[in-house]
Amino acid sequence: MKDIKGYIEENKDRFVHELIDLLKIPSISADSNYKKDMLKTAEAVKQKLQDAGCDLVEICETPGHPVVYGERIISKDLPTVLVYGHYDVQPPDPLNLWENPPFEPVIKNTKIHPEGAIFARGACDDKGQMYMHVKALEYMTKNNELPCNVKFMIEGEEEVGSEHLGWFIEQNKEKLANDVILISDTGMISKETPSITTGLRGLSYIEVEVTGPNRDLHSGLYGGAVGNPINILSKMIASLTDENNHITIPGFYDKVEELSEEERKKMAEAPYNEEEYKDKLKINDVYGEAGYSTLERASIRPTLDVNGIWGGYIGEGAKTVLPAKAFAKISMRLVPDQDWKEITQLFKKHFEAIAPKAVTVEVKPHHGGYAYVTPIDNVGFKAASKAYEETFGQTPIPQRSGGSIPIVSLFEKELKSKIILMGFGLDTDAIHSPNEHFGIWNYLKGIETIPWFYKYFTELKKEE
Ligand code: BES
Ligand code: MN
Ligand code: MN
Repeated sequence: MKDIKGYIEENKDRFVHELIDLLKIPSISADSNYKKDMLKTAEAVKQKLQDAGCDLVEICETPGHPVVYGERIISKDLPTVLVYGHYDVQPPDPLNLWENPPFEPVIKNTKIHPEGAIFARGACDDKGQMYMHVKALEYMTKNNELPCNVKFMIEGEEEVGSEHLGWFIEQNKEKLANDVILISDTGMISKETPSITTGLRGLSYIEVEVTGPNRDLHSGLYGGAVGNPINILSKMIASLTDENNHITIPGFYDKVEELSEEERKKMAEAPYNEEEYKDKLKINDVYGEAGYSTLERASIRPTLDVNGIWGGYIGEGAKTVLPAKAFAKISMRLVPDQDWKEITQLFKKHFEAIAPKAVTVEVKPHHGGYAYVTPIDNVGFKAASKAYEETFGQTPIPQRSGGSIPIVSLFEKELKSKIILMGFGLDTDAIHSPNEHFGIWNYLKGIETIPWFYKYFTELKKEE
């Protein structure tokens, strides 16, 4: 790597402003009002891939939002890195909690990011992290340092469950053939302690609807005699976990992978300070499954969380009403070897069984995905590790994350290669929350580290 540092120093303002331009387009995949902006973002990504040196770029239609594909192939005899990322973002609401509008990016300094951070929806998840790869490619092509072939697959439906990506992969197996899949859509421990994500949790996402009487009723005339769907839904949800915060759905834990004492000990060595953790979230105490540490609860253990709950009167003042319906959105984070389709069925069966006769319940599964764990004895992991050593001066710590990228386990199954998760975000970057941001230091460090991965991966692959 002749002078990646120098190249970044010379071009960093442009790198930041190009990302800002991308962040201005509201590519909200969940909301059909933004369909045009999704296409505009896909076009912009395509153009940037071309500018960075891809010799083939295209927008591939799917039944949903399109996938942007790009490649630079130098030789059939060299290995191929497939970069995956997503150009869609989460809805930005609640808008009133943003200090600046979510699609009008601003640079501000924070305690953790004294070098400045870009505040906008998608800054870290995933436009900023995806764009690091585009700029790393630009460096490698401009300086004749691309050592192998590269392909890009940037999708537009990650935040809504990658519904059509399985179909796309199935249709394009040959086109997507690769030796390793490289993703920056996770985080690292801290700026001082780099880490590589070695696991992701699976997911089952469900919506429930509880129906009582045929109309909203006067809560004085009928209250006490007719089942209130909100009361009942609350009770049902409360019963899904016991006093130890274990999930009560029969069969839920049957396939959960238990880690050995040795593995748990190793996990506990990662730097972590519970007081700091609580302080950053302004909570007085942590809360979770008995018998497990906070790090374990948030990575190697399955969970059940209500993501939203509604029904009845929520306008100003008071209205005395016994509502006809109540709703909730519930997610379960899963671990190896839980099968999300099976868990979804177990939930459905249990939820229907615990409903009192006074109401009817409807369980509507949304989407899901399998958990993923990667071994660390493969060429991809070793190359990533060496890359971090170059740019951070430290060996990165392997760490399992609590988040999900549902498509990752499918990649391995369909494309038969290992996935390397080189994330440069921090937990405090507020992804999915108001005031999401991405540190400029992290952004540039990512751009600096990625070319080293290509170099070491190509070298180690030759020796294999
Ligand atoms: N990039 C995140 C996942 C992530 C973030 C993993 C940080 C590890 C560390 C991804 O965009 C995401 O938000 N995934 C969703 C699942 C999806 C089906 C909506 C999630 O984890 O909630
Ligand atoms: Mn993401
Ligand atoms: Mn996300």
